Amino acid sequence: MSSGSDRQTAKHYRTQTGVIREIPSAVAVQMRRLERTDREDTTRDVPFAERLRQIPRETGRFLAIVAGGAPAGHWVEVGTSGGYSALWLGMACLQRGAQLTTIENDAAKLARANETVRAAELTSCVEVRAGDAREVVGSIRPISLIFIDCISEAYCEVLDAALPNMPPGAILLADNATSHSDELEDFVRRLADDDEIDWVVVPVGKGVFYGRKRFA
Ligand SMILES: C[S@@+](CC[C@H](N)C(=O)[O-])C[C@H]1O[C@@H](n2cnc3c(N)ncnc32)[C@H](O)[C@@H]1O
Repeated sequence: MSSGSDRQTAKHYRTQTGVIREIPSAVAVQMRRLERTDREDTTRDVPFAERLRQIPRETGRFLAIVAGGAPAGHWVEVGTSGGYSALWLGMACLQRGAQLTTIENDAAKLARANETVRAAELTSCVEVRAGDAREVVGSIRPISLIFIDCISEAYCEVLDAALPNMPPGAILLADNATSHSDELEDFVRRLADDDEIDWVVVPVGKGVFYGRKRFA
């Protein structure tokens, strides 16, 4: 049963997000907790590798809206950290009856993400998987949506592994398009040379590559 403060949190999210009207209380509580921790990471001197470095809330809203319209198939996230973006995608999973596998290769972050998913009551639709996404992604099919948010060096390899498993109409999302444009030059070239994906950079948060596999 939701407590009074849980209900207030959900209401707060409804008014703050506008278009995302129904964030379950357990999810909203975890979103607020991680937003607080992420803010504190930058003000305290937390070592870079330990920081959550999560997407801003507006990117989360964007992911949830886009994912809500994904075709049938499995959803994949590359780079879980503490599970913040997985909460937004997980919420869309609940609405669509979809399943998300979110992949993380850092043991401490994995533990934090598992705790987030459990506390948010999303274990029925979100699986946190350990491993290097470059090796894991190729085993998941069909992938109807993939969100890439890991080290820049891995973006191209992850896309190469995912693309054969993505049916026409499948959605590609990748973060840091504007914030890390120098580091993602190869990825941009890879997309520009690809005749299977139509894509654009959306100026939300750190910039999001938003693409769709062509139908023919
Ligand atoms: C920017 S953070 C992800 C933030 C998360 N998407 C969010 O918004 O809450 C990047 C994460 O990717 C993980 N990572 C980096 N390279 C990876 C790889 N090759 N496979 C799996 N995870 C990776 C890092 O350990 C880190 O936790």
